[in-house]
Amino acid sequence: MNVHLSSTIQTSDGADGSIDVNAVSKSYGSVEVLSSVNLAIAAGTFVTLLGPSGCGKTTLLRLIAGFIEPTQGHIQINGVDVSGVPTQKRPIGMVFQNLALFPHFSVAENIAYGLKIKKVAADEIDRRVARFIGLVGLDGMGDRRISQLSGGQKQRVALARSLVLEPSILLLDEPLSALDMQLRRQLQIALKDIQRKLKTTFVFVTHDQEEATILSDTVVVMGDGKVQQVGTPQDIYSNPNNLFVSKFIGELNEIKGRVTASGRDLTLETEVGPLTLPASAAQGFTPRAGDEVVVCLRPEHLHVAAPDAPANGSVALAGQITDCLVSGPLTHMGIQTGRTILSSVMMTQAGNAALPSASPCKVLFDPAHARVFAPLSDRLAKAFGEQP
Ligand SMILES: Nc1ncnc2c1ncn2[C@@H]1O[C@H](COP(=O)(O)OP(=O)(O)OP(=O)(O)O)[C@@H](O)[C@H]1O
Ligand SMILES: [Mg+2]
Repeated sequence: MNVHLSSTIQTSDGADGSIDVNAVSKSYGSVEVLSSVNLAIAAGTFVTLLGPSGCGKTTLLRLIAGFIEPTQGHIQINGVDVSGVPTQKRPIGMVFQNLALFPHFSVAENIAYGLKIKKVAADEIDRRVARFIGLVGLDGMGDRRISQLSGGQKQRVALARSLVLEPSILLLDEPLSALDMQLRRQLQIALKDIQRKLKTTFVFVTHDQEEATILSDTVVVMGDGKVQQVGTPQDIYSNPNNLFVSKFIGELNEIKGRVTASGRDLTLETEVGPLTLPASAAQGFTPRAGDEVVVCLRPEHLHVAAPDAPANGSVALAGQITDCLVSGPLTHMGIQTGRTILSSVMMTQAGNAALPSASPCKVLFDPAHARVFAPLSDRLAKAFGEQP
């Protein structure tokens, strides 16, 4: 089977705050942890690197920061090749999960530290520190010691300390992952707001797909040391270009099957029975008779109806309800269909009660919503913790 990853080489315009990663690979000994990464980051955008543990997110940030150098390829910042340029000479700031604030200094002293090192005039330091204390929402807390702050407040100091130096690019490696959900939400909103105001390029690492979706202009999905897809959150959700991306973002029904014929239509023998889909459902590869494939459908694209409901151009599968949960405006259902259980999410119809389990039903979907992918490679399956 011929699987092609789209790694279209694009370049940013070289503006202040832009990054171009050109065919960058990084190996440690014989182990390649990043493999020919191409990535163009436009100035002033919020870009998220998203992927499972070990896929190379931190390595890519460290390469951009200049802590390590690529084994192959090169990186341009603001249109200039930064090969061999040390970290402190790159126009970047960094915020990491381990904050390394000075615990005995006050909030203001921590934020002022970098400016003092740069020998900025005292009144200018005061002005900038006051501005950034306000920007991160710590008004009135300038004199507090770090040891007297909550986790979220410390994170805000770390952010201000980096931003006060006015870098064109800020690299953030999972800065929110140690915080509880509520605090995390608050800081996500603050981060997005600050990024919009300052128009600094943010390169943000997370393995939380929801966080990536909320924050980003552009999401870079990484898996097994490679860029799997680059796009807007909506694009990545609606038009994933392989099974890995599709599984990583949002809920998914996966139906295993085999191609029986492919031409204008794709005919398949699957766990839910025979299916005929438009050939355009196949993404990122050219299916041939005999190929193993996975048909993917989002739960919101599966409509559950009475057994005798008309198909009206939809694909119709006979099934049986296994569970039905009405949760306010949404109704979640599990439907035994052939050898698999599909999940569906629909808007709750006014006055509808939950359907009893074992009720026979029909599952309907628009064939245009189906995506057919090649199965995961063994290496990508491992990244998901699946047995290949
Ligand atoms: N200095 C090093 N020497 C050898 N291997 C390394 C080194 N640094 C990273 N690696 C390996 O490179 C791979 C990618 O690591 P990286 O830290 O970039 O992953 P990550 O995507 O940031 O993961 P996480 O989400 O767990 O932080 C891992 O398999 C890691 O073990
Ligand atoms: Mg990491």
